[in-house]
Amino acid sequence: MFLEGKKAVVTGAGRGIGRAIALALAGHGSDVAVLDMDEAGAGETAGLIERTGRKSLALGVNVSSLTAVEEAINKILDLWSSIDIVVNNAGITRDNLLVRMKEDEWDSVIAVNLKGSFNLSKAVARSMMKQRSGCIVNIASIIGMMGNAGQANYAASKGGLIALTKSLAKEMAPRGIRVNAVAPGFIATDMTDKIPEKLRDEMVSAIPLGRMGEPDDIAAVVSFLTSPSASYITGQVIVVDGGMYI
Ligand code: NAI
Repeated sequence: MFLEGKKAVVTGAGRGIGRAIALALAGHGSDVAVLDMDEAGAGETAGLIERTGRKSLALGVNVSSLTAVEEAINKILDLWSSIDIVVNNAGITRDNLLVRMKEDEWDSVIAVNLKGSFNLSKAVARSMMKQRSGCIVNIASIIGMMGNAGQANYAASKGGLIALTKSLAKEMAPRGIRVNAVAPGFIATDMTDKIPEKLRDEMVSAIPLGRMGEPDDIAAVVSFLTSPSASYITGQVIVVDGGMYI
């Protein structure tokens, strides 16, 4: 129980990878606040966490709004006094080829995937700096490293998130705060469920380990990054993709 007594916040934890991360952190002993735009999903995850004997809190929050994020973080700090771990997982896709991509498709993806992480990091920074410890994990994507036709907005947001991770790691290390990213490949969730089957099969055939990843594959690495075993790791991007991006 290496997270016994710790307090974590996971965004986009109403389903998918975020829910798996929230449950994994709770499984290692942490209390976990669940932030998601989908309040019902957040509530379900919080219920699952409470069943493991840990405290939880479900908050309906749009991470792209700094005001909403600050309100949520203040509420959690009022109740729990401290936040040790933040996992910026909330993310969306709005795929389109450049010539067809609408301004809103660009703006919304950058607002959630990139600005959302800035908002959360900014909102917890003072409290983590004061306690001289903390751990932030950003969920990026291999697409942010390799690019992808039809996903210029998503690739730019995740590439930006990797740059944000490295900058904050340098900025916050003197205060004992570690900032890392996990870059998943192709993981079975609602997000990838909407990809046409033929394209999905083609993508799986490009994965050396021959299968899509599961949310738990990502949650295991996030758990490691929050653990004492990772206390000398900061500013890194850990790729979890079955070898898709070698
Ligand atoms: P998902 O679509 O299944 O779940 C995303 C969750 O984020 C949902 O609960 C949704 O309500 C929430 N959310 C969306 N916009 C939000 C906002 N503005 N504020 C608060 N919550 C919001 O997605 P999945 O697959 O679980 O992805 C999680 C993260 O992993 C995302 O950042 C995604 O980009 C990343 N990722 C996923 C991959 C995959 O293959 N599924 C591959 C690489 C990265």
